[in-house]
Amino acid sequence: EGAPGCSQEGLPCPSDSSELVLECLQQFKVTETQLQQIQASLLGSMEQALRGQATPASAVRMLPTYVGSTPHGTEQGDFVVLELGATGASLRVLWVTLMGTEGHRMEPQSQEFVIPPEVMLGPGQQLFDFAAHCLSEFLDALPMDKQGLQLGFSFSFPCHQTGLDRSTLISWTKGFRCSGVEGHDVVQLLRDAIERQGAYSIDVFAVVNDTVGTMMGCEPGVGPCEVGLVVDTGTNACYMEEARHVAVLDEDRGRVCISVEWGSFSDDGVLGPVLTTFDHALDRESLNPGAQRFEKMIGGLYLGELVRLVLAHLAQRGVLFGGCTSPALLSRGSILLDHVAEMEDTLCPSSPLAGAARVHALLQDLGLSVGASDAELVQYVCAAVLTRAARLCAAALAAVLSRLQHSREQQMLQIAVATGGRVFERHPSFLSVLQKTVMLLAPQCDVSFIPSVDGGGRGVAMVTAVAARLAAHRRL
Ligand code: GLC
Repeated sequence: EGAPGCSQEGLPCPSDSSELVLECLQQFKVTETQLQQIQASLLGSMEQALRGQATPASAVRMLPTYVGSTPHGTEQGDFVVLELGATGASLRVLWVTLMGTEGHRMEPQSQEFVIPPEVMLGPGQQLFDFAAHCLSEFLDALPMDKQGLQLGFSFSFPCHQTGLDRSTLISWTKGFRCSGVEGHDVVQLLRDAIERQGAYSIDVFAVVNDTVGTMMGCEPGVGPCEVGLVVDTGTNACYMEEARHVAVLDEDRGRVCISVEWGSFSDDGVLGPVLTTFDHALDRESLNPGAQRFEKMIGGLYLGELVRLVLAHLAQRGVLFGGCTSPALLSRGSILLDHVAEMEDTLCPSSPLAGAARVHALLQDLGLSVGASDAELVQYVCAAVLTRAARLCAAALAAVLSRLQHSREQQMLQIAVATGGRVFERHPSFLSVLQKTVMLLAPQCDVSFIPSVDGGGRGVAMVTAVAARLAAHRRL
């Protein structure tokens, strides 16, 4: 990217700068035909993985989760939920009380802890010790009775599960790279760390992907909610599949929840034409080059970085900021999801400044000199990156919906999709683009989108309740 400073072209900005910006943003356009191709290829990849045919690491994974039904609503008790991986560099601990059929819902208590960068990249034991430490710090401050604690572990990375409480990490994603965890059972690693810590006796009953927590915690509407969709740091979905279609399970009755793991989808044939030079640059600089290519166009960890790469490119071409960059603009990770949200949304309720003035302020914080038309052009960049993300996500969701419709042999599929993650929470426009595009790509599906409760924590508690009951039966 070269040293910070001004481009050859220098001041003043060419008067046709908006045209040059729009030309550059053209690269982020994904046509309807391209979306249909992605949808079809993703569906093919899903079905191949269900049949148990060997699939490359670049395909979707279709991981069975050992969750066999949506909640009955009778689950009750107190549960501790530990969330790792959904929200990137933070870890959340919750105390969730399920009230069974009593109807009213109690707000969970929760606390968030920032995971130091060296812990995200250090030895696995250090990460799990950190988690155990956060757990006991959270519990210390709670006035509740802490006998017989039952824990659900929300671990949002691709895992081979062999039981409700047995799960082997396949590979880290989303900025984590701790040694000695891939290929190991993460529940055992957590149990060992809790024991080393020694402060509380806690039974870990279940390990749950964030998409599954999102689906299971969904307030029951007219019908059950059978798809969970997360767009947070990363992106993924789960859905209820007929067990007889899942080759690895050897079951002929009932349903099972499958975590699609669509982040790893990267069919060169259909994604190749969609990838921009910015996507390639982002991938090259990431912790896992070549992996999770689809996720890197949608997940919140990457949207800010894509915006930054585009802005730096345009500044260096003399099109933005009077042709000047700044050290911040040239530093990886300086634009975050929240910045994009604030700049893209002209009616952001959390900021006292309106539209362009807010964009000005944010860009000035990055050390940039902002010209009259810059703010508006930057908003275009944010909108282009976000719109593409929502449309690609819609193509993936449409593939899941077609799969459901096909396996249920229904003409018109009526389905509820639980949604969770910060991209939905911070960017209201993401859902509207997603919805519109899904209607276009899966016209035979009548979809209602339902925002998740407690960021999926309640759903994890639901699964833990069932797992604890099953474990008690086994002990009898
Ligand atoms: C990543 C993880 C996946 C998770 C998703 C959303 O794609 O691999 O397990 O569900 O992020 O957090």
